[in-house]
Amino acid sequence: MQTNIGMRFNKHDYLNAFFGIVLTCFLYSCTFDYPKTEISAINKIKLPDTADIPDTKTGEAIRYGLELFTRTAYYLGPEGKVMKLAGNKMNCKNCHLDNGIRLYSNNLIESYLKYPQYRAREGEVLTIEDRINNCFERPMNGKILPYNSVEMRAMVAYMRWLCEGRTASYENDTLHLGIVNLLDRPSSIENGAKIYADKCQRCHGADGQGQITPDKSTYTYPPLWGPNSYAQGSSMHRAITATRFVKWSMPYLPNRTAPQLSDEEAFDVVAFVNCDSIHPRPYRPLQKDCPDLPNKPIDFPSGPYLDSFPERQHRLGPFKPIKAFYEKLK
Ligand code: HEC
Ligand code: HEC
Repeated sequence: MQTNIGMRFNKHDYLNAFFGIVLTCFLYSCTFDYPKTEISAINKIKLPDTADIPDTKTGEAIRYGLELFTRTAYYLGPEGKVMKLAGNKMNCKNCHLDNGIRLYSNNLIESYLKYPQYRAREGEVLTIEDRINNCFERPMNGKILPYNSVEMRAMVAYMRWLCEGRTASYENDTLHLGIVNLLDRPSSIENGAKIYADKCQRCHGADGQGQITPDKSTYTYPPLWGPNSYAQGSSMHRAITATRFVKWSMPYLPNRTAPQLSDEEAFDVVAFVNCDSIHPRPYRPLQKDCPDLPNKPIDFPSGPYLDSFPERQHRLGPFKPIKAFYEKLK
């Protein structure tokens, strides 16, 4: 977040700001669905088109990787045709919308370029294969995909193809998830329950179990909690990460890349979905996660922490004081 604190303003700046606000309001009213910045971002970025996957042997691997992203349960789920790895019947694309291509929805078009990368959760440098396996173990609540398998190579080939023609820095996070502003109050589980009933329940169900396909092989609407959903300590189980995804991606609409929820609504509904006492999910021991305490994500739901804010505040906020604590350390 950028702040203007400490900047000096003169008369011209105030005039410019005034006309800027008038112009912004006008432009915004013309583009109710897509705020101006999002339109320019979408136009500037050439997104990968799976129709362009080459007709070569490498292309075959890329296409198989894409297939594994889309139909993970079919190939690698609890009754997978190739291997029985995942502990639930979700698919990678359930959280990486449009198979990792949709902006701000756990987009993956720069990911291959960012690894090997140091990750605070493990306190180690991870390869792209390690990172893929993180998602097999946590959100998919399963076992790792063998590093040398045809399937791992295919998934990596697909991820490499997604980045074709791009450059990225290790820190680049602009496309991956959308922005949320941290609240000055704790998230409200009670308010979240109301938003859930209003905006989520018709697809994900009153019981949060989603909707399984008629042949029971996977989900039309994936579950948000319970034994068939993502495990504790998954990135989706972290308040800020999940809020960034939900604000920009839900309620689900095809091709949508603009937020449909306010920051307040998104934080509150995530607090309700991720509340472990109301909504249990697959257990993972989390105490050994993130051994690098100064760099532990501030919304990691389980201690130990370097700070003395209660665990509840790491789950529900307000996050600004926690963020300030760690910024001071640096
Ligand atoms: C329940 C949701 C969920 C599912 C299912 C899921 N992921 Fe993820 N994945 C995430 C989230 C959330 C992140 C990290 C967001 C963050 O912190 O930036 C992530 C991150 C990743 C990254 C690292 C991206 C980067 O740029 O650092 C890769 C690679 C990845 N996932 C691959 C997969 C694969 C392959 C599958 C299927 C086997 C999968 N994911 C299934 C939620 C999910
Ligand atoms: C119109 C139906 C619909 C509505 C309404 C909806 N979702 Fe979803 N949601 C989906 C679909 C479909 C997916 C999987 C997307 C895919 O596979 O391409 C999904 C995926 C998700 C995921 C990631 C996968 C998982 O199961 O963990 C989360 C989290 C999520 N939705 C939360 C919400 C929340 C919170 C709301 C309410 C604000 C909401 N959704 C409203 C259809 C919907």
